[in-house]
Amino acid sequence: MLSVRHLLGIKYLLKEDIELILHTADNFLDVINRPIKKVPSLRDITVVNLFFENSTRTRLSFELAEKRLSADVINFSASSSSVSKGETLTDTVNNILAMKVDMVVMRHPKAGAAHFLAQHVNAKIINAGDGAHEHPTQALLDAFSIRRKLGTLEGVKVAIIGDILHSRVALSNIFCLKKMGAEVIVCGPPTLIPRDIESLGVRVETDLRKALQWCDVANMLRIQLERQEINYFPSLREYAHLFGLNKELLNSLNKEIVIMHPGPINRGVEITSEVADSPHSIILQQVENGVAVRMAALYLLANRPD
Ligand code: CP
Repeated sequence: MLSVRHLLGIKYLLKEDIELILHTADNFLDVINRPIKKVPSLRDITVVNLFFENSTRTRLSFELAEKRLSADVINFSASSSSVSKGETLTDTVNNILAMKVDMVVMRHPKAGAAHFLAQHVNAKIINAGDGAHEHPTQALLDAFSIRRKLGTLEGVKVAIIGDILHSRVALSNIFCLKKMGAEVIVCGPPTLIPRDIESLGVRVETDLRKALQWCDVANMLRIQLERQEINYFPSLREYAHLFGLNKELLNSLNKEIVIMHPGPINRGVEITSEVADSPHSIILQQVENGVAVRMAALYLLANRPD
């Protein structure tokens, strides 16, 4: 049984919780690769997907995971709701819960929004990304994808490369990988590396080639221009030159590394198309695995007694 009632962040999970989610996801990955991809596990459960911020992968992946588990699903997008008329978050959610909804999956631009909701409404909450804070299901699917590819997380060397400062994916990945025994380097322009990040047990490297020569897995992060209120580097061209992964650099390493990206990709900035679409890349496996991991998270939370 999970030690938590909500999935708000990897920070609050035990290693045993992560093991349980990944093990359950292994079973669900088998299910979604069968001719009949649906199981009745959440037949009496209603889930609302509340998205206050744009999403492609996470929103569709949760919706598919819920449908594969036979849950009833309702989707809410802030732009077409009464939020635009000034309704508060708690009022919005309590009105939805009054319709007998059991679980809430929420993406929100503000860090802490999922915690706030968990304290103020009576439903199980899954954080689908809150500002620059956490994106727990992304980190779980990333860990799951590494483990499926390399057989273990223990001792695996992972370089997380790019805009670490604004990335909820980076923070959740660091928590998850460290709990599971992996080694982690963060790499990017010094302006995009948070001060004191070493206190999380990671090493900082500002030379991309050195980070790539060290690692087994490179997780290339998107430059999050929408969260950058000032210029953190001179130009995208210079960023791509110093921190972008291209075929020449990859080939010059003389070793095999696994390439990951949470999406959406800025092709030609953090990663070229040749690399993103190469056999080294497991970017589309991450997306496939995301459905199984989200099925696992939904199933384990829904079946956990209060
Ligand atoms: N990886 C991820 O969170 O992608 P979306 O923003 O498309 O959901």
